[in-house]
Amino acid sequence: MKPQHDLDYEALVKEDRVHISLYTDPTVFSDEMDKIFHRGWVYVGHQGEVPQPGDFRLKRIGLQPVIMVRDQAGTVQLLLNRCRHRGATVCQEKQGNTRSFRCMYHGWTYQTDGALSGVPGMDAYGDEFQREDLSLAKVPRVASYRGFIFGSLSPAGITLEEHLGRAAAELDLFVGLSEAEDVEVVSGTHQYSYQANWKLAAENSMDGYHPMITHASFGQALMDKIQNSPSPEQRREDRDFASFRGATIDMGNGHVMLDYKMRIYDSLNGDPTPAVRAMTPEGQAHLEELTRRFGHQRAANMLREGGTHTFIFPNLILIGIQMRVLQPLRADYTEVCLYPTLLKWLAPEVNTIRLRSHEAFFGSASFGGPDDSEIFERIQDGCAVQLEPWQLLSRGLHRQRHENGMILGEMADEVTQRGIWRQWKKVMTQGTGVARTTRQRTGNGVARKRG
Ligand code: FES
Ligand SMILES: [Fe+2]
Repeated sequence: MKPQHDLDYEALVKEDRVHISLYTDPTVFSDEMDKIFHRGWVYVGHQGEVPQPGDFRLKRIGLQPVIMVRDQAGTVQLLLNRCRHRGATVCQEKQGNTRSFRCMYHGWTYQTDGALSGVPGMDAYGDEFQREDLSLAKVPRVASYRGFIFGSLSPAGITLEEHLGRAAAELDLFVGLSEAEDVEVVSGTHQYSYQANWKLAAENSMDGYHPMITHASFGQALMDKIQNSPSPEQRREDRDFASFRGATIDMGNGHVMLDYKMRIYDSLNGDPTPAVRAMTPEGQAHLEELTRRFGHQRAANMLREGGTHTFIFPNLILIGIQMRVLQPLRADYTEVCLYPTLLKWLAPEVNTIRLRSHEAFFGSASFGGPDDSEIFERIQDGCAVQLEPWQLLSRGLHRQRHENGMILGEMADEVTQRGIWRQWKKVMTQGTGVARTTRQRTGNGVARKRG
């Protein structure tokens, strides 16, 4: 396919609109992989996915296959999945537990820390052959925040803390009902794909404008349930699906969020606990455990804040109990992985409720996920229209406000989409940030397992 423009990103990304070729052009996609995914910080996985030595999961950073593995010493390693002999991948299973990775071509074997430990017929090599020089390559920079493991394929650049900036507080909130190591990510994953560009899912996940329309059937089902509830708190009018309140926030660096804090409970005089108690026996058990561990006030605050709804540029989405990871594969093909989380200290029935509510709206056979995937593919199809080749992002532009270095708007405004594109343009035109010259030692693992 012939490029439709000369990659002048300044001209193609305006504050209130973007050119549709940025969703379709393979040249743009290749440039994104290079500048955003193969140089900057990319979310790879959570340490709770590999709790035991030898546990591994297959991942990618951009298009490059990576094995996230907890080695025998308890350190989480990010190993590039490519045999140092003639280049075959050494691991094909999506997840499992192993003591080593053996290449199926000629049998070279690597330990879980990447070291080459076995070479069939090694006496055929000369004296200069050094096994120590032929470990699996490691992602040059690995850093962890509250159990979230990020990698950068660039040996130099801004730190993860600089990249996360204000969004780190939302990662705190995600694990805030717990210590980071109490988060379990072992309940299985939803994985699905759609035939459209990865940025459509990023934008959509932070879109407060569409739910009433795109997910109308879910809204109606929810309303029916609420209106028929025996609980007076649940029947309150302000829980109407259409009246969800909140704000859109651009936190900088492409990290954006829908801020629901106070949305549900602010009409209950700031104390959400009676409503939660009234919902179900499991809700009451949850509240009692929170109160026992943290005291009534903090428990109330936790319930009021209700988790987070955040996009961490470029590929991590946190919604409620769920971590969602975007995996671009082509300009018009994207994989999505959903990882629902459990909290180790919660009663099993409460963790079950967390899972069931997640499944109701998310995943490939849910009320919500398929609606959105259908929209992404309609947009990709619509991008074939060449006349007036722009997408509008102007909703609420005239009324957005700047506070404490952030940009805020109303819940259905396109502050979040503009924030993603602002960072996208910055990285595509200027690089990933102010590069630090400090070279970090390659192959640092992270997240040593406790005790
Ligand atoms: S390619 Fe892996 S052992 Fe030859
Ligand atoms: Fe949606």
